[in-house]
Amino acid sequence: MVIDALTIKTTKADHSRLAETDFSNVPFGKVFTDHMFTADFEDGEWKNFQILPYGPIAMSPAISALHYGQTIFEGMKAYKQVDGSVSVFRADKNFARFNKSAVRMAMATIPEDVFMQGIAALIDIDKAWVPDAENYSLYIRPAMFATDPFLGVRPSETYKFVVLTSPSAPYYSKPLKVKIETRYTRAADGGVGAAKTGGNYSGSMLPALEAQAEGFDQLIWTDSKTNTYVEESGAANLMFVINGKIVTPEVRETILDGVTRDTIIQLAKSMGIEVEERRILIQEVLDNIENGTLTEAFAVGTAATVTQISEISYEGKGYTLTDPATRTVSIGIAKKLNDIRYGVTADEFGWNWTI
Ligand code: PLP
Ligand code: COI
Repeated sequence: MVIDALTIKTTKADHSRLAETDFSNVPFGKVFTDHMFTADFEDGEWKNFQILPYGPIAMSPAISALHYGQTIFEGMKAYKQVDGSVSVFRADKNFARFNKSAVRMAMATIPEDVFMQGIAALIDIDKAWVPDAENYSLYIRPAMFATDPFLGVRPSETYKFVVLTSPSAPYYSKPLKVKIETRYTRAADGGVGAAKTGGNYSGSMLPALEAQAEGFDQLIWTDSKTNTYVEESGAANLMFVINGKIVTPEVRETILDGVTRDTIIQLAKSMGIEVEERRILIQEVLDNIENGTLTEAFAVGTAATVTQISEISYEGKGYTLTDPATRTVSIGIAKKLNDIRYGVTADEFGWNWTI
């Protein structure tokens, strides 16, 4: 990736927290590295490119991000390669999606050099924080929020862009028991479901809490019009193996266009596995579990990686799936994916960006 050099002002942390960090205990998103990258959008341009010690940012309590939710984010990961170098996986896709989210939320878009070089500079200064244990990675969280201290409802004229990095284990540590949600909706046609914006996640919290109170780990969202088609699972895309083929909901306005989803589809096809992207009725899922043709169900995402689904419940009835340890299709693809991410095998798709 060749980009013009950006002038970044660097202020190093006085004290590194690295030595105090227990890398055998870094649950997803809890521990942050020593530094962060920030930039400001003011007077129609991006400025103040900085690497700073990770920590609080002073803000007016009137900023429109807090009141009206003009806020977007991304999630990607850096992996310690077997040769000791560090690569970020498919950052170009996250960059494109970030600006797509920005357009939908009427926010400023960000130039590629600010996004990429901010990330590169931050990873470079905090390289020692990239975990090297199996399945661990450095989670990268770019975010942008509206900073006008103004209570009128209109797009902000100023924004802050931040990049945080967090050494992390996968989001889920075990196969999931999921409930098909037919009362609450994550996203509607014409809405903001395809954007990575805060409100999509805050709106999902009460439904998730209610499902947890009923003993489930996560939800499967359904379409808002008929509640008869499956869409996503929590903050991850959804895939099934039916009659040996991968079947996954097609991307539409109500579904996030996942980078992991796209990656798995490309890998599966390269391995000779057929993939169908289409609408999937709840009834088809349930019938195929019962007749034994649905052999695998899993959630795919950057944070989630490939997480097996062990049980699906619909309207009070539980459907137990095959033993996750026996699922050759998803396990095989996940292995191939990890081998590319950690540099165990050649990156034939050009997905790794070495920092
Ligand atoms: N769907 C939602 C709602 C998400 O938040 C995520 C996570 O980013 C995904 C799907 C998976 O997308 P990706 O694979 O790009 O992380
Ligand atoms: C990610 O996978 O990067 C996500 O954004 C999921 C997150 C909301 C936990």
